[in-house]
Amino acid sequence: MSNMIFIDACFRRPTAHTPIWMMRQAGRYLPEYMAVRAKAGNFLSLCHDPEMACEVTIQPVERLDVDAAILFSDILVVPNEMGMELQFIKDHGPKFPKPLVTDADLDALDMKAADKLVYVYDTIAKVRSRLRADKALIGFTGSPWTLATYMIEGQGTKTYAVVKKKIATDPAFMHKLLEKLTIIIQDYLCKQIESGANAVQIFDSWASALEESAFFEFSWDYMLRIAAHVKAKYPHIPILLFPKGVSGYLDKIREKGGNFDVFCVDWSTPIELAKAKLGDKYILQGNMEPTRLYSKEATKEGVEHIVKVMGKESGHIFNLGHGMLPDLDPENAKYLVDLVHEMTKR
Ligand code: CP3
Repeated sequence: MSNMIFIDACFRRPTAHTPIWMMRQAGRYLPEYMAVRAKAGNFLSLCHDPEMACEVTIQPVERLDVDAAILFSDILVVPNEMGMELQFIKDHGPKFPKPLVTDADLDALDMKAADKLVYVYDTIAKVRSRLRADKALIGFTGSPWTLATYMIEGQGTKTYAVVKKKIATDPAFMHKLLEKLTIIIQDYLCKQIESGANAVQIFDSWASALEESAFFEFSWDYMLRIAAHVKAKYPHIPILLFPKGVSGYLDKIREKGGNFDVFCVDWSTPIELAKAKLGDKYILQGNMEPTRLYSKEATKEGVEHIVKVMGKESGHIFNLGHGMLPDLDPENAKYLVDLVHEMTKR
């Protein structure tokens, strides 16, 4: 047993209730976040300032009483430190003005990126020293595939046309990039753990862009390699994998196995399906549709369904099926957390 129910739940140990936290729980729906971001000037400066990043990491824990904090940062700081200029454009999202095109672009990437992310490690150390002892701190990274997609497309994409053309015409280029990202990410996660992270989550937000065979070749196998590397060094640290939108690939995911602890279920995967396919092998995290939070009634209905399927026993961490939205009401988020705690009391 640990003193953190989130960590106990990751290892299927009994807990007083089902733990809950929310992806993107720190962010624009919180007025106290907007105040700190205004002080920082912009989003990236906020990520670069350990004092302010620490403050916004802890805000949702204080307001909502979630069972874990997630490091405030962004997956794109990694390519940024590999040498790619990064912009966050209002109402458009992140942008790399000079995306990767040639082999020379790959050769120019800085393989010392993990050493340069000192502001992330400083934020983690600060948060861990100030966070309540019974609340876990989750570190994170983007998956190699999701980061590679941004680095090649230069921005978010609906069609994935540029990156998929690379897969079709120059798979060696893709593997070379994914290999570089894997090495950096392994080091990055270990350094986050050494700085005080109690668990780590890998976000594969663009998993669903790939057909089954390509998903395993270009995404999942690299995530499993990272998990194996981190597990070998830090077996007591839970590893959470979030491949978004892969409900059709669960049989193959099960068959492959892999040394990770928690499988994160997105909202398009029915929780009963995830339970049937993977629930005995991995702890499941998820998966309430975030827009249910627009109404208390829809929230209650969502919680009742998920709790009915997952039961009150160990094996589940409550979360949303993707991130919080900027126009959600913090009061409904608090309602959700209290409801889950109350309904799952053992
Ligand atoms: O609370 C938390 O979950 C921790 C912080 C966190 C952020 N981004 C803060 C953020 C985490 C874990 C992320 C991960 C992230 N970033 C992912 C993977 C998870 C997912 O959502 O699929 C991705 C794909 C990104 C890339 C990214 N960063 C996008 C697409 C955007 C713009 C999206 C939008 O809603 O505008 C960002 C910016 C970003 N990252 C914000 C926050 C709070 C909004 C920035 C702002 O304050 O204006």
